[in-house]
Amino acid sequence: MADAGVAETLLRRIEKADGGVDSLDVASSLGLDHQVVVGAVKSLQALGDLISAEQRSSKHWELSEEGTEIAEQGSHEARVFGSIPLDGLAQSELMKLSFGKIGFSKAMSNKWIRLDKTHEGGPRIFRTVESIQDQEKNCFGVILVSVFRTVKSYWITKGPSFSTTITKQETELTPDMIANGSWKEKKFKPYNFEAMGVAPDCGHLHPLMKVRTQFRQIFLEMGFSEMPTNNFIESSFWNFDSLFQPQQHPARDAHDTFFLSDPALAHEFPQDYLERVKKVHSEGGFGSQGYKYDWKIEEAQKNILRTHTTAVSARMLYKLAQQEKFTPVKYFSIDRVFRNETLDATHLAEFHQIEGVVADYGLTLGDLIGILYQFFTKLGITKLRFKPAYNPYTEPSMEVFSYHEGLQKWVEVGNSGVFRPEMLLPMGLPEDVSVIAWGLSLERPTMIKYGINNIRELVGHKVNLQMVYDSPMCRLES
Ligand code: PHE
Repeated sequence: MADAGVAETLLRRIEKADGGVDSLDVASSLGLDHQVVVGAVKSLQALGDLISAEQRSSKHWELSEEGTEIAEQGSHEARVFGSIPLDGLAQSELMKLSFGKIGFSKAMSNKWIRLDKTHEGGPRIFRTVESIQDQEKNCFGVILVSVFRTVKSYWITKGPSFSTTITKQETELTPDMIANGSWKEKKFKPYNFEAMGVAPDCGHLHPLMKVRTQFRQIFLEMGFSEMPTNNFIESSFWNFDSLFQPQQHPARDAHDTFFLSDPALAHEFPQDYLERVKKVHSEGGFGSQGYKYDWKIEEAQKNILRTHTTAVSARMLYKLAQQEKFTPVKYFSIDRVFRNETLDATHLAEFHQIEGVVADYGLTLGDLIGILYQFFTKLGITKLRFKPAYNPYTEPSMEVFSYHEGLQKWVEVGNSGVFRPEMLLPMGLPEDVSVIAWGLSLERPTMIKYGINNIRELVGHKVNLQMVYDSPMCRLES
């Protein structure tokens, strides 16, 4: 019976009944599942005052699953008795039956069966009587396996605007109805604000992309503009040398960095700048002693997968230094970097770096600390601590720690520093300009935010796409 059919049948029943009807009685007399009748009641209620329905509950005894089985197939002990042939049954065989265990001990105490432990094929069970009387099946015992259930139903009576026919309610007010005035006679279906929305049939953003959007928003609010990060491949020159990272530095080893085999070398560099970089490494200058080693162009030419987005910052600062007149800037980037790491639950060979850079006259460590507070406060992180650290390109350098309320401890959230004159002056930036910068990973806050403990569940071929579909939008509370 179609749903509308059930609803109309129900209305006719109510009309004929004096007083009202119970949804359970209607269901059983129509041979329908109770839920179908309840569905009809709900849809009639939605139409206005056609009916009024009052929920009520009644309690009654019902056979439990076990009780139903006993009523149909006999007690466990009777079934045990029935399963034993005249020449007996191995005890191990009996125990394989669902009713074997319970039935065996009861049949033993009823003295219907006996156990021969000395039987040569293993313990064996034999009948001791010819026939039995199954008391339980005959009702008495069944009570023991019945349950007291509460059943909910509706008591349905006529409503103020009762009728046995259902007039379809309008779902839309059209210009026609307004023009010809017919809206006055129409019945409109009320909005159902509880209804589930239709899930959009489209792609889903990965959690990393959602968190990236939030970080981008924070930088934009703080007046930063985004750097172009669309080059995963970088020369060692921009990734290391321009950042005053010596050519013997362990990070430049194949154990830490991915080198390209084709094309293995980069060839185009700003020549005069390259000469100044070579000089500051090998001989010093700009008030620095340099590293005093034999700087080689071949080492700087090696193509690699960039190990940090600070390579992009270096390119941007060099570009800035080429302007006729220096103007203060605030830059940020959020993109992928690559490191030849040992993979584990929190490390992959690639991750995303978030980086902020500010260049202006006379910036100090105080400005860096201030901007880090401003930035992290926007992430909802207000307790910060700084620890002296080392980067070849910043002096001083600070690791940033925040107090994690959930983990109840201080966790590292980023790295920062003031870029060295050995990096900035060869670029051609004015001497009284300083540049402060900081970096952090995008993966760490994303994993914390989405409660993911293993990075392989977030990135890579083992990712469950359902995780991507189900992850809510990201809101970094401030
Ligand atoms: N490049 C650093 C890293 O890879 C982060 C950083 C950026 C540190 C800017 C200081 C200044 O960890």
